Amino acid sequence: MDEPSPASVTDIRATARWLVREGRGILAADERTTTLAKRFAAVGIPSTPESQRAYREMLFGAEGIGDSLSGVILFDETIHQSTAAGVPFPAQLAAQGVLPGVKVDGGAQPLAGFPGEAVTEGLDGLRQRLAGYRALGARFAKWRAVIAVDAELPTTGCMLANAHALARYAALCQEAGLVPIVEPEVLMDGSHTLERCSTVTESMLRTLFTSLAAQRVELEAMILKPNMVTSGKACVTQASTASVAQATVECLRRTVPAAVPGIAFLSGGQRPIQATEHLDAINRLGPHPWRVTFSFARALQEDALSVWQGHESNIDAARQAFLQRAVCNAAASDGAYTADLEAG
Ligand code: 13P
Repeated sequence: MDEPSPASVTDIRATARWLVREGRGILAADERTTTLAKRFAAVGIPSTPESQRAYREMLFGAEGIGDSLSGVILFDETIHQSTAAGVPFPAQLAAQGVLPGVKVDGGAQPLAGFPGEAVTEGLDGLRQRLAGYRALGARFAKWRAVIAVDAELPTTGCMLANAHALARYAALCQEAGLVPIVEPEVLMDGSHTLERCSTVTESMLRTLFTSLAAQRVELEAMILKPNMVTSGKACVTQASTASVAQATVECLRRTVPAAVPGIAFLSGGQRPIQATEHLDAINRLGPHPWRVTFSFARALQEDALSVWQGHESNIDAARQAFLQRAVCNAAASDGAYTADLEAG
């Protein structure tokens, strides 16, 4: 069966299903300027507005990305930028058969009265900003909430505040004709166990879906972007791939209604191959009521960034490294990843 072209998929329910269709996932390339500067610094690349633009052009110009990716999430600055040849990035992506999306949240700020916790801001003026992004070609949006974990955190107050903001954002997106990617990220930072991550993730997702219902968000026209259920980064016993997959599936089945067309995971600081193996193992436990795929930033970009090094002469090799991760994750989204795919 011929696939519909992205331009012909217009209503938000169909767009949501198209974004999570078989063999595809989403690239998150929506790092703020300061975050990308830190990633550049870690591999010794000088950060300037031009080096950040050139980096995005390296990624988006990799030929054939549309075979593994359905969408790319852009940062506000990037959605206004163009290739060196003058093609606006949203048009360059559309020409590759990839839908452009945009991060619309204003970032996590300390939550008053809740030491150590944050709430994501950015609802003021959002209706007008969404209309502007739609006019620039965006077809979907992203809002990320961060939930810190320790023996006492998160509090109910923090989960409620973030769930409410996510639900208000999602309703505004749907009104504007954009598919909301709803991202409640339970952080991997800390020494917590897999079991603790599972308890917190389950509680956050229950709170979130109650808020989404209260704000009349159409579940059929959204994508959930959760963390996988993993051990904290500093936990002394790291859970096996099989345990991560089992705990993640159990948690999502308890909390995510079947009306949601797709779940697209963040990578959260997992090593690139580990994130691919986890996604694959999760899909091998299917069939699931929803499509289960990726919306990674670090796990898709890390290898390409260190190969690129900011040099034009490395662009081809960096694109190869990027495509390699995209192809492996696309296979994992169908539960069809094998180590041979790493050979390229
Ligand atoms: P990571 O895959 O690096 O966690 O990023 C996903 C993302 O978009 C965070 O908002």
